[in-house]
Amino acid sequence: MVWFGLVWAGETIEEILTHEYTEAEVEEYFGELKSLLYKKKYQVGDILELDVGRFMVTGKEAEGVEGVVYGVVSLSNPEEPLVLKFPHVGEHSLAYHGEPYIKARKLIQKLNHDNIIKLKNSDSRFIIMEKADGSLYDLIMGLARGRAVRFTEAEAKYFFKMASKDVVAGMEYLHARGINFLDLKFQNVVYFIKNNRVRFELIDLGTSEYMEAPNPDELFNKLLPFAQGLAKSAAMLGFPELEEDLNTRIYSARNLEELKSALGIDGEPSEQEQILEMVVVEKIKRVTDSGGSWSSGGACP
Ligand SMILES: Nc1ncnc2c1ncn2[C@@H]1O[C@H](COP(=O)(O)OP(=O)(O)O)[C@@H](O)[C@H]1O
Ligand SMILES: [Mg+2]
Repeated sequence: MVWFGLVWAGETIEEILTHEYTEAEVEEYFGELKSLLYKKKYQVGDILELDVGRFMVTGKEAEGVEGVVYGVVSLSNPEEPLVLKFPHVGEHSLAYHGEPYIKARKLIQKLNHDNIIKLKNSDSRFIIMEKADGSLYDLIMGLARGRAVRFTEAEAKYFFKMASKDVVAGMEYLHARGINFLDLKFQNVVYFIKNNRVRFELIDLGTSEYMEAPNPDELFNKLLPFAQGLAKSAAMLGFPELEEDLNTRIYSARNLEELKSALGIDGEPSEQEQILEMVVVEKIKRVTDSGGSWSSGGACP
C-alpha cells in the first residue's frame, strides 16, 4: 500500500473497514485542521478555513453521538447549500470519534450510486456533502404533524414505495460490496427534490462492518425492520388499513425477493403511478417548504 500524504492509495473496502486506527494516524489525518474541531460551537456567519477553501456556517443541522452537522456555503459558490460533518471532540479523544468518521469518509469516496450520499469536495478531510431537503424522519414527522399537507391513501402507498425502492437499491449496492450498514433508520435516509422528482439517499456509513461473504438473508433481516417502520408510519399518517395491508404482506415475506414484492418495488411503475408521482413530489415539496422538518435550516443555538 502507498501512503500519499493523507490518503491511503488503493485501499480496498475491506481494508478501510477493518483497519484499526492509532491515535497518531487520526491526528495525522486531521493535521492542523484539528484545531477547528476543538472549538465546540460555531455560530451562523462564522467562517471556517478548510484545506479546500473558506466556508460560512449557515445553521446547525444536527448533533449526534459521533459528530456535528453544520449547514455551510462555500464563499466561492454561496448559492449552493452544503453540509459539513465534524467528528465530535468532547468527552472522548479525537481518536475515539475520528476513526468511524474517517472510515465513513473513505467509504463514501469509494462508492458511486444514486442512492448513496456523495462527497462534494473529494480532497478535503471533512465530510462535505450537498445539503439534502431533509431526512426521511423529518419528512414523515412533518407529514404526521402538519395539517396543511395530507396524502390520500393511494399517495401514501406510493410514497412508501418510492422511499423503499431507493433505500433497497442503496442497501443492495452496499451489500454487494461487503458493506454491512448497521444503522439503517429514517434519520439516516435523506431526500433530494430535483426536476420534479424525489430521490432518497443513505448517509452516515460510519457504522458499517465488513462482510466476507454477503448473503441475501442478512440483507432481508436488515430491511425487515425498515419495512415495518414504514408500515407504522402509515398508521401515523392516518391510514390504519394501509398499515395492516403492508404488515400482512411484509410478515408473509420469507426472503429478500418476497419482501421486495411485498413493498411493491419489483416491477415498473404503472401509468397511474406516474401521475401519482407528480402529486406526491409536489406535496413533499410543500411539507419541506412549510418547515415540516425538525432539523433542517435551524439556527445555531
Ligand atoms: N447531506 C445532508 N443534508 C441534509 N441534512 C443532513 C445531511 N447529512 C446529515 N444530515 C442531517 O444530520 C443528521 C445527522 O447526520 P448523520 O450523518 O446521520 O450523523 P450522526 O452520526 O450524528 O447520526 C441527519 O439525520 C440529517 O438530519
Ligand atoms: Mg445518523
